[in-house]
Parts: sequence; C-alpha cells; structure tokens
Amino acid sequence: MSRPDGIRHLLGIEGMKAQEIEALLDQGDSYLERYRAGRKIKKVLKNRTQINLFFEESTRTSTSFELAGKRLGANVINMVTSSSSIKKGETLIDTAMTLNAMRPSVLVIRHASSGAAALLSQKVNCAVINAGDGRHEHPTQALLDALTIRRRKGRIAGLTVAICGDILHSRVARSNIHLLNTLGARVRVVAPPTLLPVAVERLGVDVYTDMRSGLEDVDIVMMLRLQTERMRGAFVPSPREYFHFYGLDAEKLAAAKPDALIMHPGPMNRGVEIDTEVADDIDRSAIREQVETGVAVRMACLDSVCSHLQAEEDE
Ligand code: CP
Repeated sequence: MSRPDGIRHLLGIEGMKAQEIEALLDQGDSYLERYRAGRKIKKVLKNRTQINLFFEESTRTSTSFELAGKRLGANVINMVTSSSSIKKGETLIDTAMTLNAMRPSVLVIRHASSGAAALLSQKVNCAVINAGDGRHEHPTQALLDALTIRRRKGRIAGLTVAICGDILHSRVARSNIHLLNTLGARVRVVAPPTLLPVAVERLGVDVYTDMRSGLEDVDIVMMLRLQTERMRGAFVPSPREYFHFYGLDAEKLAAAKPDALIMHPGPMNRGVEIDTEVADDIDRSAIREQVETGVAVRMACLDSVCSHLQAEEDE
C-alpha cells in the first residue's frame, strides 16, 4: 500500500484542500478493507511513540486512537490527566513541553478550549492531532463521517446532508460543514434558534428551524447530542419538549429520502435527540459503522503525520 504525502499536523478541516482530505479517506478505506480481510498491516509506526492526552471524557475517540496506533506498531501512552501533575497546577503548555522532551512522534490531544491543539503545535517538535478542541473542530470525526458516507453512498459531491441539533456548541458540526462543503455536498443545519451560532449561514449552509422542512429529501441525517457540558443556562425548555420538536423519530424521518442514512457521532442520548427505533434501524442507521470506520481513519491520520515526519527526518 503506497503512503501519500503526509500532513505536518491535523488541527482542523478548515483550510484543508479536497485532495488532502481525499488522500486521508482513501488511506482510511484501504486500512478498513485490509483489517476486515485479516490482511497484514505494515507497522509504519514501529519505533514511534504516540501520546494520547485527553483532558475531556471520551470513549470512541480515545479508544480508537489507541487501537489505531497499536495496529500500526506504535508505542502508545495514554496519559491519565486526572492523576497527572496538571492537578498540581502545571499548565497545558508546560505539560506539553514536558512530554515533548520525551521525544514522542505524535501528541493526540482533546481539550475543552478551542485552539488548544493549534497552540500546542507551535510549542512542540512532534506532530499534533486534534481529537476535539472546545466548540472549534473535531477533524477525525468529520473524516470518519465522510468515509462512512462515501462507502454507503459511493460519493459525497451532490448529496444533501442535514446536520441537526446543537449546532452552537458542536465541534463535530463545524468540522463536518467544512469537509462536506469542500467535497461538494449541500449542507443544511436544522436546530432551534437558540442552538444556532450567529450568522451560521456564512459557513455555507442552509438554515432551518423546523425538522420536517429541514429533512425534506435529504440523503443524510446527522444527529447531534445536546452538549450540556458547554451550556451556561437553559437553551431548551426541557429534554421532552426538545425531543417532540427536534428528536429524530420515524415520523420526522419520513420527510427524508427513503434511503436516507442516519448518523450520529455518539455518545447518543436516546429519547432526547434520537429515538431508539431509528438509532437501531439495521438498514438505515450507520452509527455502529461510524465507530469501526473511526479506527481506520485514525490509522490513516497517524500514518500521514508520521510519513511527513519521516520525510523531514530523511532530509
Ligand atoms: N464522537 C466522539 O467524539 O465520541 P467520544 O466523546 O466518545 O470520543
């Protein structure tokens, strides 16, 4: 399997070229096929150290980055931030500089502050991958979503994608909007006015505040969780009322194309933004597939930044 030109860091989708995104999707697809077929995977990260630094909770992203690194032969260290010297007052930058002194090849970071990954990338010599920074971006989520769509629908260009729910606080929404626009999809956002960022249409989306209109004839329905951990104050009257107007159920889904794909980055809150019946629909829900694709896409991202490092080291 050939290794495309790597990227220095993966901090966000905004600003990435279509070819760079497609190269990561192709590489992720190739890893997914090889793993499923039980074929040998080249240990392209042998003798490399990957440190996962998660300052926010995670199940899918942290586990899949660990698996991805191990499948590629890396030494993977998961730093437990709750028992680290951060608890004694050490700053993010000092923590990163300390880890940098141990000469890792890659730092994978999730942090509650927008811009944390970019800041770190200016202070360290190794590659930095953003595993989610505040409300800003979650680039590997958008890449795995795109690969899931491409595998199911055969393309991304020309599809209509509705991203529904808490757009205001969602880094997943922002990364997906940038990626889908770059690859030629039409993007709608569907949310109550309280959960829409000011001037969101400037991101190149059509805005809907009614679910049935927003879902009309769409190819993809991407649901988002209410990010209560980022909310200061009440943005919805109650979870029950939110579900009534914005929760995805069979009745609202009927407005979408008959073969519309249901997606959710997880974790799901069943009965709040999505009904169990549609979440578990084996024909239309791609939610479990998103998780599997996530490991392969993260292998592609780790491979890419390490191949860039290798090129630098060889100079
Ligand atoms: N989608 C996602 O980022 O899930 P985790 O918070 O479990 O990593």
